[in-house]
Amino acid sequence: MSIINLVREYPDIRRDYPGGMPRKLEDLLLRICNAQNNEVLHIFGGKAGWGLRGDINTNVEPDYVGDAHSLPFRSNSFKLVICDPPYSDHDNYIVYGNNNKLFYDAWISEACRVSSKYLVTRHIKQFECPKDWTEYVRIFFTLCPNRYIHLVQLFKYD
Ligand SMILES: C[S@@+](CC[C@H](N)C(=O)[O-])C[C@H]1O[C@@H](n2cnc3c(N)ncnc32)[C@H](O)[C@@H]1O
Repeated sequence: MSIINLVREYPDIRRDYPGGMPRKLEDLLLRICNAQNNEVLHIFGGKAGWGLRGDINTNVEPDYVGDAHSLPFRSNSFKLVICDPPYSDHDNYIVYGNNNKLFYDAWISEACRVSSKYLVTRHIKQFECPKDWTEYVRIFFTLCPNRYIHLVQLFKYD
């Protein structure tokens, strides 16, 4: 299956939280996945506008406090799992005040386990498609006036 590539530019209006996902992008993801609010999990939740938000940092008042490397849910519990991690351990400390390190293999396998259908990552680098999943859509976007490119990858489990 070929990958659908989309390019977008969004105004950087989420200044309430560094690295906040543009609301219009959140809406687009919901529409593509045809997911309802209660079918969505954010494992690096920050101040996302929808779905169940988990975060290791209590300051963001998440729906649950938890570590993305070990999720407190049964397998296949959510239709859509969003992974919007800090871009590095350094950013995690400097920007979000967290001391924990990030281990891609651990959090992506937890995200795959609890998702029954769709998985989204957002980063400044490209992730490999998890085993047994298919990469389905890529959204390249910039936040004006910041302008460096972020990549959202949408993976599907068939
Ligand atoms: C890029 S921000 C998420 C922004 C969010 N998508 C939004 O729209 O507001 C990354 C978040 O991951 C959280 N985080 C860092 N390490 C984590 C971990 N091991 N488990 C869960 N959350 C973590 C940080 O506290 C931070 O809130």
